[in-house]
Amino acid sequence: MARVLVTGGSGFLAGQLVAALLARGEAVHASVRDPAAGARLQARLAAAGIDPQRLRLFTARLEDDAGWDAAVAGCDRVLHVASPFPARLPRDPDALLPAARGGTLRVLHAAARAGVRRVVLTSSFAAVGYGHPERAAPFGARDWSSLDGPGITAYVRAKTLAEQAAWTLHARLGQPFELVAVNPVLIVGPPPPGPLAASLRLVRGLLRTPLPLLPRLCYGVVDVRDVADLHLRALAHPQAPGRRFIASAGEFLWLAQLARHVRAHAGRRGPVRELPDALARLLLRLDPGLRPLAGDLSRWRGADSTPARALLGWQPRGVAQVLADCADGLIRWTPG
Ligand SMILES: NC(=O)c1ccc[n+]([C@@H]2O[C@H](COP(=O)([O-])OP(=O)(O)OC[C@H]3O[C@@H](n4cnc5c(N)ncnc54)[C@H](OP(=O)(O)O)[C@@H]3O)[C@@H](O)[C@H]2O)c1
Repeated sequence: MARVLVTGGSGFLAGQLVAALLARGEAVHASVRDPAAGARLQARLAAAGIDPQRLRLFTARLEDDAGWDAAVAGCDRVLHVASPFPARLPRDPDALLPAARGGTLRVLHAAARAGVRRVVLTSSFAAVGYGHPERAAPFGARDWSSLDGPGITAYVRAKTLAEQAAWTLHARLGQPFELVAVNPVLIVGPPPPGPLAASLRLVRGLLRTPLPLLPRLCYGVVDVRDVADLHLRALAHPQAPGRRFIASAGEFLWLAQLARHVRAHAGRRGPVRELPDALARLLLRLDPGLRPLAGDLSRWRGADSTPARALLGWQPRGVAQVLADCADGLIRWTPG
């Protein structure tokens, strides 16, 4: 039973994974939350010239038990990618938990019942490097976001609690399968046709805004194709189980630096300026979902992806290439 379940197959990263698995001849199960999402995935595969014959679609929602046993039946590996990543963050800090944490537990329970051999969980740098005092050392696999600290949005909270719940359940069930976590920073890259993922909307905003006045917020970036490659390495490598792998192309950049890169590549002229923190704090207050980001202003951070490179042989594109490819893709992007 050499099959892989990819959860949330219609998503930006999951679609890349489904395409990569099919292209190398694997049989793939993909869960989608509704038939329209399945149609989006089929269209994306067709646009990439990928034969969908070895793909089976299953409908399952992260908030419901229904559908998960059927989706995982016959699979020996699971890539649990699905999780809410809303473009607009909710005001309620717990709003994303039923899908993020609850959904992760549902998928892991179903994997254990089905006798799956390995699960790779798409976690996030959000579960690693937030809520801490500023420090010079980059964050690594041993670090966990501190949910009592500053800068904790509903998304950071959901990804941290979901990954922690996964490791706890895995231990409590007696490690019925091998578990690996991948923790990417902001995932960008060439957008597929169809709706833009939240991370790409952020970059499109940087490209399009006529008067870029940006808060001093700091992000790492990584290309979606490299994140997919890291997942596939984590799915196969004998030394991957039990580890967390941070996926980052390199140095973190302030939003204004990110904007300068993509705008220069797209031939957009004009200055890009940073908002003074006091003004940014006032503006962030206007959006309850973004308000916690005030605690992150002018806070530099970095991430150490050495284990992915050294142990798994991962060789991602560099930051400049990632941003150039993303800008090119966004210029050409069509909504569907
Ligand atoms: N993009 C980033 O910058 C980034 C960085 C680090 C980690 N991650 C993680 O990477 C994973 C993929 O993110 P992405 O960037 O590819 O975002 P995305 O395109 O929004 O993908 C998220 C997927 O999860 C599905 N999903 C969301 N809520 C669901 C629910 N309640 N029930 C069933 N499915 C649900 C979505 O389904 P629909 O297509 O129907 O909406 C979509 O397929 C997520 O776990 C995210 O947290 C992303």
